[in-house]
Amino acid sequence: MGKPTPDLSKFDDRLAAVYSRTGDKEAHYDQWASSYEADLVEDLGYVAHIDASDIFAQVVTDRSARILDVACGTGLAGAALRSRGYENIHGVDFSMEMLKIAARTEVYQSLWQQDFTEPVDRSPAYDALICVGLFSYATPKISDMHNVIGCVVPGGTCIITVNGAAWEELGLETEVRAEAGRHGFSVSEIRQAGYIGSEGIDSRVLVIRR
Ligand SMILES: C[S@@+](CC[C@H](N)C(=O)[O-])C[C@H]1O[C@@H](n2cnc3c(N)ncnc32)[C@H](O)[C@@H]1O
Repeated sequence: MGKPTPDLSKFDDRLAAVYSRTGDKEAHYDQWASSYEADLVEDLGYVAHIDASDIFAQVVTDRSARILDVACGTGLAGAALRSRGYENIHGVDFSMEMLKIAARTEVYQSLWQQDFTEPVDRSPAYDALICVGLFSYATPKISDMHNVIGCVVPGGTCIITVNGAAWEELGLETEVRAEAGRHGFSVSEIRQAGYIGSEGIDSRVLVIRR
């Protein structure tokens, strides 16, 4: 049986465009970059980066860890980690316009471009990663999650959010557990946290060990 088709009309138009399975997502994020923080944080009450960073700080206690901020966007999660005492932070995203704004924060030691629907052609080089806002209704899919997790060294820790509305509607826990079995990572915890306040969307924050 196929997955249910989600009704995206219940969400703000700016979110529905991102959650839709059609359209050029990279071009969309490039266009959104300059107004992203005003739209999402100030207008819609986005807190995913704050809650995920708090969980990251509870789980990854070594402040000198080499950290990758996956789908760093404009740098919200990186800045939240910096304010929690981490200094060795690197960022990656597929949108060059997002990366340009992230560079201005001066939070990142390096920034690189990657589409996580594709395999990553680099050796794992990070002790831990945070990935906020990447997994939702559209792409990347849960079946692409191993491309993200493969960026940490064996034994490394991943803190990955999944949009809570998509998690429930699409039954994503079953998929995450199947992927863990397929790719040899373990899901140590699944916590519930904040995501987008004004839309009543929460998040699941996955604590994953590679
Ligand atoms: C909702 S934003 C989250 C950004 C940031 N982590 C935050 O919390 O504000 C999603 C980010 O994922 C990036 N993204 C979406 N699909 C991607 C993909 N397939 N590969 C890499 N980055 C992607 C977008 O460019 C955007 O910066």
